[in-house]
Amino acid sequence: MTNPDITASTTPRINRQRLIQLLHDFAQFGLTARHGVSRLALTQIDRAARNYLIELSQAAGFQVRIDAIGNIFIRRHGSHDLPVVMTGSHGDSQPQGGRYDGIYGVLAGLEALLSLNDANITTLHPIELVMWTNEEGARFAPAMMGSAVYTGQLKLETAYAIHDQAGISVKEALQDIHYLGHDQVAGQPIKAYIEAHIEQGPILEQEQYPIGVVHGAFAQRWFNIELTGMAAHAGTTPLHLRQDAVLGMAHCISALNQLALQPENQDVRLTVGMVQVQPNSRNVVADKALFTIDVRHHDDALLDRLTLAINTELQHIAQKYALTIHIDPCLNMPAIHFSPECCRVIEDAARKHHYAYKSMISGAGHDACHLSTIAPTAMIFIPCIKGISHNEAEAITDEWAHAGATVLLESLLTLAQNHESEKP
Ligand code: HGY
Ligand code: MN
Ligand code: MN
Repeated sequence: MTNPDITASTTPRINRQRLIQLLHDFAQFGLTARHGVSRLALTQIDRAARNYLIELSQAAGFQVRIDAIGNIFIRRHGSHDLPVVMTGSHGDSQPQGGRYDGIYGVLAGLEALLSLNDANITTLHPIELVMWTNEEGARFAPAMMGSAVYTGQLKLETAYAIHDQAGISVKEALQDIHYLGHDQVAGQPIKAYIEAHIEQGPILEQEQYPIGVVHGAFAQRWFNIELTGMAAHAGTTPLHLRQDAVLGMAHCISALNQLALQPENQDVRLTVGMVQVQPNSRNVVADKALFTIDVRHHDDALLDRLTLAINTELQHIAQKYALTIHIDPCLNMPAIHFSPECCRVIEDAARKHHYAYKSMISGAGHDACHLSTIAPTAMIFIPCIKGISHNEAEAITDEWAHAGATVLLESLLTLAQNHESEKP
């Protein structure tokens, strides 16, 4: 049964020009010299982007609320107070990030809501657009923090106490940008969550699909590793008497890469992205080396085996170089399987608008991964040029931006029009 209350004056259509303008305008928040963005979570630049999103939303008549971890909820009311149909993504970026990762999904969602206004449509279910706090985990680990707290994967007080490398806590940063919201976290029934995002990989462009229907995501594990040796003089300390934390770290990183390249670990994605050395002086043998491990795969059992092998190997290397080692796991997200019903809604929407689509799994993590633990969820991918992402050169075409927003609008409309009793 579709909603008899719909007062549709026209069929809703994405306004391509407005969407492209929105993407351009938001890229100004943290624009870098190489045309990417640097918009770290909970900075004044993030605040400016948040404020602008709220300004546009309130001007369009949407209701805005902010929860205790700073997630922003933008609600377009429906004719009935039924479970909400939700969409969204993140506004924060990597330190040298692209201008579409995350924000594309937020702005495609905003454009969808504005298109419903233009068409004077009242949906049965309310629709909410969410900008999730700190998805990237670049400043405050772990990633996908706002959606993790919202879905109960991470306690609010635990998140508040996490601090960045300058010692600023999440709670202090939220207060600094005036986004420590008063709304309770979570607590509302969600009919379905659909997130639009750039693929951040090369498949869709290479295979010439404008749309990806995402049915799941890789499992991922994050670790902070701390090796401790002894500081010593670079000129007077013979090599065999050293406890050199940097040398130990170098062997660890090489060994991790060898482990990931083993045939039984095919398709593993292992990254050491952050390293820190203390005292970090050219004529001192380092006594501390800190580095991160981000390891992912679509098979949880393989990651379990690999995690054990990593622990064994790192302990062995630490012992060999007379170092102590501390391994701190800081993210453990299982492989994600999205809702087949939501995937079908997206496929139907793509077909209706004559977009070819490819069913796929995401190597990247997204807020949708956490939302899938509390509501039927799926994602829409659009290609990005050469699959480049987490890089200032990240780029998309206007056609892809438009296609993704059109399929998102159609999917949201389908979900928000059908009576609550019908599964998505
Ligand atoms: O790391 C990720 O997968 C995401 O881009 N934050
Ligand atoms: Mn992202
Ligand atoms: Mn990202």
